[in-house]
Amino acid sequence: MNETYLATAGRYDNMTYRRCGNSGLQLPLISLGLWQNFSDNDPFSRSRAILRAAFDAGITHFDLANNYGPPPGSAEENFGKIFQKDFKPYRDEMIIATKAGYDMWPGPYGDHGSRKYMLASLDQSLLRMSLDYVDIFYSHRPDPLTPVEETMLALDHAVRQGKALYAGISNYNAQQSKEAIAVLKQLNTPFVIHQAKYSMFERWVEDGLLNVLEESGAGCIAFSPLAQGLLTDKYLHGIPEGSRASKTNTSLRPDLLTARRLEMVNRLNQLASHRGQKLSQMALAWLLKDRRVTSVLIGASGITQLTDNLKALDSVPFSDEEIQQIDNILNA
Ligand SMILES: NC(=O)c1ccc[n+]([C@@H]2O[C@H](COP(=O)([O-])OP(=O)(O)OC[C@H]3O[C@@H](n4cnc5c(N)ncnc54)[C@H](OP(=O)(O)O)[C@@H]3O)[C@@H](O)[C@H]2O)c1
Repeated sequence: MNETYLATAGRYDNMTYRRCGNSGLQLPLISLGLWQNFSDNDPFSRSRAILRAAFDAGITHFDLANNYGPPPGSAEENFGKIFQKDFKPYRDEMIIATKAGYDMWPGPYGDHGSRKYMLASLDQSLLRMSLDYVDIFYSHRPDPLTPVEETMLALDHAVRQGKALYAGISNYNAQQSKEAIAVLKQLNTPFVIHQAKYSMFERWVEDGLLNVLEESGAGCIAFSPLAQGLLTDKYLHGIPEGSRASKTNTSLRPDLLTARRLEMVNRLNQLASHRGQKLSQMALAWLLKDRRVTSVLIGASGITQLTDNLKALDSVPFSDEEIQQIDNILNA
């Protein structure tokens, strides 16, 4: 790998950007998450190559969280190292997000949604990434014990301090989102985005959340849009070595690969090939057909996956019949 990185000149030519709700912020239709594949256990040169390839393809949005690793914090540290080496000159072309909300350090101030935790965590994240500010700071999950006003005021404070440009929430259900957004509106916080698990296999956002976000002028970014790899052709013939499902302590438990699920994946895969594309590409295009979805937030363990997934942007539109066929498969 060349030590000096010069971003590809035509990097904006093939990416589409979508406005995040009614805000001024535009995000690429495909964004890259660093939850996995950027830890201390992953080859640094591979992580670096993935980030370079993403930026060269017009991906401007990179999603992190305090706890991404393992160990927690290492994804931010590795991102910080790569940022210093390769991306410093491009800071104003990047939208970098981080979050706080899950267990991060011992004691009562290292988890959930108190003002103490949220603001201390953001300071730690900035140090790990060697950044002056992040573009989006999220509350990673609702905290049942902290008043939502306190957590939202912490997000607002992060913005007023200049340590974040925009605020976001993640994993809040429709009602919790309504309450959080009401507080943020009162505070005049630049709240722009909700990060939610959304894929063909996880459609809960369709039961209210997407409407709440649309009404409040916020965007939705869909995380795990490939259901961690299930919505690709990789598990059709078993669990390949090195795949997420093959790892110990994995977030993709092999018992999720039920016979029923694999049958669905098989049928979806056939439909995708009739459409002239891969299942992964169809799964991403299917999410992006709804304009309330600002971006799909993918993970990738290699450049080939990334370039493969980017081809979702060339998808032909879905016919009504295809939409119905997909619903039939998913509801079978
Ligand atoms: N807010 C939250 O609570 C939350 C929670 C989870 C994730 N997230 C965010 O969402 C991001 C994405 O999540 P995710 O990694 O679960 O997303 P995903 O895109 O559903 O899954 C990514 C994984 O699928 C496999 N894959 C991707 N493209 C493939 C292809 N073309 N062919 C075959 N396999 C392919 C790879 O797994 P292999 O390793 O098996 O190759 C890859 O690591 C995270 O990085 C994080 O930023 C947020």
